[in-house]
Amino acid sequence: MAKKIGILTGGGDCPGLNPAIRGCVLRAQDHGFECIGLLEGWKGLVEGKSMPLGLEDVTEIVNKGGTILGTSRTNPFKKENGVKNCLDNFKKLGLDALVAMGGEDTLGVAGKFYKEHQVPVVGVPKTMDNDLSVTDYTFGFDTATTVAVDAAERLRDTGRSHRRIMVLEVMGRHAGWVALFTAVASGADWVCLPEEPVELEAMCSHLKKIHAKRKVALVIASEAVTIPGEDAGKEELDDFGHMLLKKRGVGERLSELIEKETKIETRAAVIGHIQRGGAPTLFDRILGLRVGVKAADLVAQKSFGQMVALKGNEVVGVSLEEATKELKVVPQDWLKFAKIFFK
Ligand code: F6P
Repeated sequence: MAKKIGILTGGGDCPGLNPAIRGCVLRAQDHGFECIGLLEGWKGLVEGKSMPLGLEDVTEIVNKGGTILGTSRTNPFKKENGVKNCLDNFKKLGLDALVAMGGEDTLGVAGKFYKEHQVPVVGVPKTMDNDLSVTDYTFGFDTATTVAVDAAERLRDTGRSHRRIMVLEVMGRHAGWVALFTAVASGADWVCLPEEPVELEAMCSHLKKIHAKRKVALVIASEAVTIPGEDAGKEELDDFGHMLLKKRGVGERLSELIEKETKIETRAAVIGHIQRGGAPTLFDRILGLRVGVKAADLVAQKSFGQMVALKGNEVVGVSLEEATKELKVVPQDWLKFAKIFFK
């Protein structure tokens, strides 16, 4: 009987997941494995819910946003009997290996299952936040940022007509990669990142100068920035202890502060989940397919406890434990790079 791989996608979805599933399923067939999909992340393994993943199931999904498997932020280590149910269902479903596609949370669970329960698992990194260590890029980031750049350029058009300052709030949780790349690629005039305090005075005086010359100014703000004088406050946490950030409204509050300080009419827009939908870009399709293929190769070689990573232009296996140790936030070098363009 063919050996069986269970594939799951956990955490926030992002474009590139379907190509990754396709890559893994098709390459697994080359190795004589069959695949099934576990529904809605780790929840699928906790509850034993699955779907077939044959050739026909992954045909025509390379260009589709979202994930055909569904997703959730379920942490089996936080659910009563969660771990036991996962181990039982792994056996019941006749699985020989797991491929877990996700960010630090989903992959953290994968690493724990490998380390503490010897579950044969391989990780595939995905996140629009691009905040996973050890891999150069994660699929989802390119599409999300491309969408955000388009939004930023649209905001500048309407902002110029009305002689306004415009603020675009983007996602990215506690890493500012999306905001930084959006700002630089759209030619924005300022960026506010979670990695550094917002310099309100410096920002406003710069925006006034830019607005006087160009009749518009554009600010990109990451959703988790700390606004001076504000306490991050208590927010709802997910199963992994992360703030949900859904009620923060950083862009709106920044816009009020900017308007007060500059006396220039200012408007904010939040792009939110729009960044996570739609067809993956070419980069995310190819990266998704490549990491999916590599995951199947790692399973075939029995290289468990590994995560697929993009290093330069090579797709390689790295330790899951290493990859989930710390978040990859924006370092000083990148901040300096961005500031070159704020003139
Ligand atoms: O981690 C991906 C991400 O899109 C973050 O940028 C954002 O903070 C979060 O997910 C939103 O999560 P949810 O879809 O659960 O609201």
